[in-house]
Amino acid sequence: MTPADRLENFYRGRRNRHTAALRSMVRETRLSVDSFMYPMFVTHGTNVRRPIEPMPGIFQLSIDQLEAEVNEVVDLGIRSVLLFGIPADKDARGTGGYAEDGIVQEATRAIKAAQPGLLVATDVCLCEYTDHGHCGILLDDGSVDNDATLELLAQTAVSHVEAGADIVAPSAMMDGQVAAIRQSLDLGGHESTTLLAYAAKYASAFFGPFRIAAESAPQQGDRRSYQMDPANGREAMREIAADIEEGADIVMVKPALAYLDVIQNARRMSSVPVAAYNVSGEYAMIKAAAANGWLDEKQATLETLTAITRAGADIILTYHAKEAARWLAES
Ligand code: PBG
Ligand code: ZN
Repeated sequence: MTPADRLENFYRGRRNRHTAALRSMVRETRLSVDSFMYPMFVTHGTNVRRPIEPMPGIFQLSIDQLEAEVNEVVDLGIRSVLLFGIPADKDARGTGGYAEDGIVQEATRAIKAAQPGLLVATDVCLCEYTDHGHCGILLDDGSVDNDATLELLAQTAVSHVEAGADIVAPSAMMDGQVAAIRQSLDLGGHESTTLLAYAAKYASAFFGPFRIAAESAPQQGDRRSYQMDPANGREAMREIAADIEEGADIVMVKPALAYLDVIQNARRMSSVPVAAYNVSGEYAMIKAAAANGWLDEKQATLETLTAITRAGADIILTYHAKEAARWLAES
């Protein structure tokens, strides 16, 4: 074989893999703590640090515990948190979700007082606050009333922003929720609040641990009449386009791992930032396998987060944010 044949015929991929220096020089995807958003569960009471069984390392925290927690988050370089609330009382209309002294509103005030520079995002939905556990209010036949729910979601978002939230993240999957919230925010003088839309949120089994954490499982039925069918990829592009049209500043795909194709397509079709939610079940799978010694947690987690980034996510919501921040700092 002449040298000329070799030039024509051989691609030698291993040349770029020989040393750590080469590998790092040609690396296509770089993970950064800047893109992590850390979800937190806040609850009533004092001195509460209640472990969530299927999510080792994650706790329901009372307000007095938040200062120490967000100090740690900021020290690790994480720039944002996402708040979920567990209210003291639930009712049919999810009143606790939009009360001025609701749990997320109080937690937001406490966090902004402790760490004004940390971005506070809030989940805007009713399922943690309704006694039936659905993401909207119900009609007599048990179905979710889309348009009546919009008003309550808008009220919820405004109350979060009045408490100091920087970003509101509607996750109810009601049609028109982005427009309704954007309009109420603007009318209330909150034109500069960022709206992160859960645009393509699938009816997923991977939310299981979250529903234990947030005590928000539907008492009857499931969420398939409002969350998306896992089989549908093109439909996600319509949901994303609609949310951008309605005023979303960031669009989210959720879950992440089983939907990397959707993340990739979302990134290709839209010029707004794309977020991906590495959900509770994805976290639980790694934790459970690692606890059994069946895989290396650090490697599996960084590989997962890198893959979500490679697919096109600009922002990753992950329960692994604190650990991943530590691992990135040491490597
Ligand atoms: C509430 C909500 C859910 C999650 C985020 N917001 C659960 C659900 O829709 O049942 C899931 C997050 C996770 O699994 O980590 N609408
Ligand atoms: Zn919900």
